[in-house]
Amino acid sequence: MRILEERIRKDGIVRAGNVLKVDSFINHQMDIALFEEMAKEWKRLFARKNINKILTIEASGIGIAAIAAREFGVPVVFAKKAKSINLDSDNYVTKIQSFTHGKIYEVIVSKKYLSPEDHVLIIDDFLANGCALMGLLELVERAGATVEGIGVAIEKGFQRGGDMIRAKGIQLESLAIVESMNAEDGSIEFRK
Ligand code: G4P
Ligand code: NA
Ligand code: NA
Repeated sequence: MRILEERIRKDGIVRAGNVLKVDSFINHQMDIALFEEMAKEWKRLFARKNINKILTIEASGIGIAAIAAREFGVPVVFAKKAKSINLDSDNYVTKIQSFTHGKIYEVIVSKKYLSPEDHVLIIDDFLANGCALMGLLELVERAGATVEGIGVAIEKGFQRGGDMIRAKGIQLESLAIVESMNAEDGSIEFRK
């Protein structure tokens, strides 16, 4: 998506260790006009799917997913990074191992908000190794719901998450795919 790529080129900051900082428009300050354009693009790309719910994970997926939910006219549920007090039978639970952050955490969704009738679009801001999205897929599976697709704002195409999800046959729509980036000169190449 051209406007997202241009924005990343203009305001994204490439850090050592293949980290892309987008704090000025996604991860800290949020550009809602941009989120609305992204939501419209996902609406177009998933036009043939019957989606009745959007699922994301806290924290930084929530803003984007909320704007997407308004575009689709459906509710949005965010998986919570669990405190052990929430780990009861009212919730679906799964573990996520984050390579980016080097830790394992549990995420939950209440059984009240995900069920076999749901046709889910999963939305997140970043796709790197894909651990967060694999966790969300697991929660949807536990609920007996159906994944209709996954929308990601920025995929780091040189990490393994995107290939892993496409190999499952899931429709994955990443609005910008970074092919490579260079912390020395700040350059970013996008997949065509
Ligand atoms: P992983 O398997 O390597 O852990 O990557 P995954 O795709 O699951 O993403 C893990 C977390 O790291 C996500 O945030 C994701 O947004 C963030 N992330 C990964 N690479 C980058 C990057 O280059 N730049 C930025 N800005 N974020 C990146 P999270 O753990 O869900 O936490 P939160 O930030 O949403 O609270
Ligand atoms: Na994040
Ligand atoms: Na995220």
